[in-house]
Amino acid sequence: MAFRKPFLFLLKFCFFINMMQIVGSSNRDAAILLRVKNSQLDDPLGKLDDWVETTHNAPCNWTGISCDPQTLKVVSINLSNFNVSGNFPADFCRILSLQNLNLSNNNLVGPVTSDSISLCSHLLSLNLSSNYFDGNLPEFSTKFLNLTLLDFSFNSFTGEIPGTFVNFPKLQILALFSNLLNGSIPEFLSNLTELTRLELAYNPFRQSSLPVNIGRLTKLQNLWLPLTNLTGKIPDSIGNLVSLKNLDLSNNTLTGKIPESIGGLKSVEQIELYKNQLFGELPDAFSNLTSLLRFDASENNLTRKIPESLASLPLESLNLNDNSLEGAIPDILALNPKLNTLNLYNNRFSGTLPRNLGMNSELEEIDVSNNSFEGPLPQNLCYRKKLQLLVLFENRISGSIPESYGDCSSLTYVRIQNNELSGTVPEEFWSFSGLERLEISDNKLEGSIPPAISNAKGLTQLVIFGNNFSDKLPSEICYLHELAIVDLSVNQFSGELPSCIINLTKLQRLDIHENMFTGAIPKTVSLWRDLTELDFSHNRFFGEIPAELGSLLVLTYLDLSWNSISGEIPEELTKLKLNKFNVSNNRLEGKVPLGFNANFYLSSLMGNPDLCSPDLKPLPTCSRSKPVSFMLVGILSVIALILIGSLLWLLIKTKKFVAFGSKNKQSWKITSFQQVRFNEEEVLASLTNENLIGTGRSGRVYQVKLKSGQTVAAKRLWEVVRLPESERVFQLEVETLGRIRHANIIKLLFSCIHEDFRMLVYEYMENGSLGDVLHGEKGGVLLDWPRRFAIALGVAQGMAYLHHDCVPPIVHRDIKSNNILLDKECRPKLADFGFAKTMQQDGNDCEQVMSSVVGSYGYIAPEYAHTMKVTVKSDVYSFGVVLLELISGKSPNHSSFGENKDIVKWVTEAAFSNQEQVKENVALDQILDIRMNPSAIEYHQVKRVLNVALSCTSELPTNRPSMRRVVELFKLHSSTHIK
Ligand SMILES: *[C@@H]1O[C@H](CO)[C@@H](O)[C@H](O)[C@H]1NC(C)=O
Ligand SMILES: *[C@@H]1O[C@H](CO)[C@@H](O)[C@H](O)[C@H]1NC(C)=O
Ligand SMILES: *[C@@H]1O[C@H](CO)[C@@H](O)[C@H](O)[C@H]1NC(C)=O
Repeated sequence: MAFRKPFLFLLKFCFFINMMQIVGSSNRDAAILLRVKNSQLDDPLGKLDDWVETTHNAPCNWTGISCDPQTLKVVSINLSNFNVSGNFPADFCRILSLQNLNLSNNNLVGPVTSDSISLCSHLLSLNLSSNYFDGNLPEFSTKFLNLTLLDFSFNSFTGEIPGTFVNFPKLQILALFSNLLNGSIPEFLSNLTELTRLELAYNPFRQSSLPVNIGRLTKLQNLWLPLTNLTGKIPDSIGNLVSLKNLDLSNNTLTGKIPESIGGLKSVEQIELYKNQLFGELPDAFSNLTSLLRFDASENNLTRKIPESLASLPLESLNLNDNSLEGAIPDILALNPKLNTLNLYNNRFSGTLPRNLGMNSELEEIDVSNNSFEGPLPQNLCYRKKLQLLVLFENRISGSIPESYGDCSSLTYVRIQNNELSGTVPEEFWSFSGLERLEISDNKLEGSIPPAISNAKGLTQLVIFGNNFSDKLPSEICYLHELAIVDLSVNQFSGELPSCIINLTKLQRLDIHENMFTGAIPKTVSLWRDLTELDFSHNRFFGEIPAELGSLLVLTYLDLSWNSISGEIPEELTKLKLNKFNVSNNRLEGKVPLGFNANFYLSSLMGNPDLCSPDLKPLPTCSRSKPVSFMLVGILSVIALILIGSLLWLLIKTKKFVAFGSKNKQSWKITSFQQVRFNEEEVLASLTNENLIGTGRSGRVYQVKLKSGQTVAAKRLWEVVRLPESERVFQLEVETLGRIRHANIIKLLFSCIHEDFRMLVYEYMENGSLGDVLHGEKGGVLLDWPRRFAIALGVAQGMAYLHHDCVPPIVHRDIKSNNILLDKECRPKLADFGFAKTMQQDGNDCEQVMSSVVGSYGYIAPEYAHTMKVTVKSDVYSFGVVLLELISGKSPNHSSFGENKDIVKWVTEAAFSNQEQVKENVALDQILDIRMNPSAIEYHQVKRVLNVALSCTSELPTNRPSMRRVVELFKLHSSTHIK
């Protein structure tokens, strides 16, 4: 027993020593982690709050930390999405056991220096993506022997990819996409032979060619290089990439032929070569690419035929549109069991469409428009009932529309105009419930529009001109409330227009010329508020021209010629701003209204024998042909009219006066949003010309000084005749501004409505709009850089509130310097919510398709203009434009930018023309507003704001930061130290 004790002691001692080592090392790790946390990171969400020494099992139990289960040493730090900020915390790498460091999706800023990164040579993976790092990429020493993943994507790194990036013998993933790299794509990348992913997309690289020896990367699975300024040929060695699954070289300027060797990509699933300058014929070398699902070589200069070996692959989609391809589509394509998308438009294809197309696969989209296809439509194109897009226009396709197409209820978009189709259209073909667009014009189709068309509730465009359709227009057409464009012209329609047609409130174009319509022109047309074009010419309409046409204020095209219309030309029509006005060849009579009494309109008036004019030759003169008694009666009645008119006017005036002056408030609907010490009469009395301070799209704005000493701004909206959406604008302002409160959003005090009179009263902003201050002639206050920065931050905060704190989020849709108002201290507030959109949060992408683009020229995001999809990212784009205005002092469409250039293009070119220059502030000086006091400019801050502006105005919405991120970034930049 006595012998045993020391042994036991020894055993215990050894165990203790061992424990000490473990505890010692984890203590050191913990100490390092805490030091970084406390001195180098800002953690606004408190994600790292559990990093405290007293935790059991520290630091392995801490959020974001993982340890090796045996040694209890820290092996991974993962702070992805923690919202932390600060500079690159390289000190984490002082933990020698650390293998994986993931700091992605945070708000880290500043450069990543070669010195700091050199601490990290023992890492296996380093992920810094989606932060705001900038400056050059760091140099890497030769010690990074074990690094397999390097992800610097979604940052603002500039300059070259350093030569030391070759020092990664084990690197598998290199992701540098979505930065501002502007060097070239180096050849040495082909030495990184362990790479499985090489992702450099979306960088403004200098023109460079693909590494000639790219084929050495035989383990590569993803080669992702769209928008990287690649030029020259695709090297033959590409065919050696036997593991490659995705080849994306789209959106570059690659030239030459697609190499034969492409047939070696035996694992490839997707090939994207669209938007390049590739030419020559497609190689007939695809037969081994049996995994290929998507092939897109559209928008190149390819010629000759589609090779059989490509057509016989089981592709899901084949896109070859916008080339110069010719010949027939190989029949074998119709046997493909997977094909769902086929885009061959804008080529020179000919022959008939494969007979069995659609039989064997779930075809969803086919667009072969603008080719020379002929012969019949494939009988079974919609056999699987999945077809949505049928686009065949501008070909020579003949025969009838097969009866089977009547069962294709999945169709939403049909454009088969400009062909040689004949016979009747299957009745159901008019009436699919999801149909949005039906264009079948310029064929030889006949028959009538069936009442069943009422089922196509979503139809916006019905364009069927240039056929032989006949019979009456069924009144069921009035159920199609979305109809915007109706073109039935050059057909054989007859009978009267259904009177309910006046209820189609979204009509923009109604063209029924050259038919045999008869009856009167609808009289009460005031609901056609969006109508810009009305063509009833060459029909058999009779009766009078309705005066109410004069109330359609956006109408610019009015043709009623060649009918049997009688009566006088209503004076009201002269109020319209018409580009086209034609009432010739009718039975009109009386005096030509003064507004049309000009030589310019003569041809529009001819062919009406009873129309007269005091002086317009050769129209008969009104007075001379009429006997004196008639004249007297005329004069007398004019006098009488004037008298009655003035009496009426007086009556109305006094009535109005009564309404304004008396305290009869019943008819006024008034809503107060804040405590106000005034009443509407006091405001109304001040809406006079001398108080007018601005006239805008939605109305007039007056400055109103109240007895209480307070000054407010009152906006009187245009009447409905001037602004048809007046009511909606009013409602939107009231609904949005009435329920939100933010220091950077204008305060609505008060609203007031009475019949056609709508008024909104806001807090008064002494310094007017930012647009006026920056670009106005008067100049206004001079904004030096610190004030401009404060304005940028304030606007960003207001917008972040709308986008992220309001539930559901609000998209302003008209962010521009004229809608940013400045108070006495030049603090900014967002105004004008008449076009704002509250997003419905169904679905997670939060985007909505609008029926028309609102917003202001120069501020509209490119994708919004094209797709009409509105997202918060469209506002971010407009905000980016405002930032560029603040930096440059120029308006977004300043004439000095030159042809087709806006501020975004101008600044982007200046900023990227020479990155060294940006460093030296030279390029910056070309952009900076010279009116700013140079000594007050913080160049460093300007550069950062410029970087934010450039990412806000990225073409791709996903590359734009959220407003919340912008705010965080600005805040970081406004003070150099953290905490
Ligand atoms: C830490 O880890 C230990 C064991 O691994 C566990 O029992 C404990 O609940 C964990 N949590 C805390 C807060 O200590
Ligand atoms: C690389 O990994 C090996 C094996 O895990 C290790 O022995 C070596 O020390 C590591 N090298 C570096 C530079 O960390
Ligand atoms: C790339 O590899 C080739 C062939 O092994 C070699 O000759 C060349 O020096 C390497 N390039 C660099 C920059 O290391």
